[in-house]
Amino acid sequence: MAEVVIVGSPEDAGTLVAAEIVRLVGRDPQAVLGLATGSTPLPVYRALRKQAAGVDLSGVRGFALDEYVGIAPEHPESYASVIRREVVEPLGLDPELVHVPDGDPERIAVSGGEYERAIEAAGGVDLQILGIGTDGHLGFNEPGSSFASRTRVKTLTAQTRRDNARFFPSLDDVPRHCITQGLGTILRARHLVLLAFGAGKAAAVAGAVEGPLTASLPASAIQLHPHATVVVDEEAASQLRMAEYYRYAWENKPAGQGL
Ligand code: PGA
Repeated sequence: MAEVVIVGSPEDAGTLVAAEIVRLVGRDPQAVLGLATGSTPLPVYRALRKQAAGVDLSGVRGFALDEYVGIAPEHPESYASVIRREVVEPLGLDPELVHVPDGDPERIAVSGGEYERAIEAAGGVDLQILGIGTDGHLGFNEPGSSFASRTRVKTLTAQTRRDNARFFPSLDDVPRHCITQGLGTILRARHLVLLAFGAGKAAAVAGAVEGPLTASLPASAIQLHPHATVVVDEEAASQLRMAEYYRYAWENKPAGQGL
């Protein structure tokens, strides 16, 4: 089962996960990070900026989880732009070493396979940061996605488009398609760190951690992973049946183990 860490705030989650990333980069200056977009990972990137002052991140490599299909990389809400603005520039990463799936509609027949090969050529992802959708999606793997899926095109659910409309002028402007790492791709990362904050995520988190393994709730795929950490605030943890055990296990974790 995933290790569940219940923290007081998104900032506390950011501090915890950033410390793990700093430890990882200390061991391997060319570590490969799996980068998530959306609101949830922002506290991690902010904390990393503080904690990594004095740490050289210029050799760190990165692979984003997903991208919209049908908006240009220059569009301010493309994930290529978001990753550049929120991660690469503030952290001083080398843009040449940070990759985002190619959402060009003309290339989507081949870009999934190319992305898979690029991840493999980098030696795989060391630490994959993940959010979770209110519909239980992981990356943009919407309900029904195969646990064996690889990077490919998906159609966004109406719920995901509504959730993401806040980033666009109107709902009509939210793309209908995306290219996303598959659940099978994500499961190959060596460490999964899933973050979730707020009551709106509570049902999806409970389903992912304690519910049945089902493609109807794609994030339940984390139960198949030998090293998955779930970092949630009290609200997102509010539907977890075993919350008291998770707190007990965390408080009694042997010192120095990290996440
Ligand atoms: P959010 O998105 O962080 O903006 O809530 C999470 C997700 O869709 O995976």
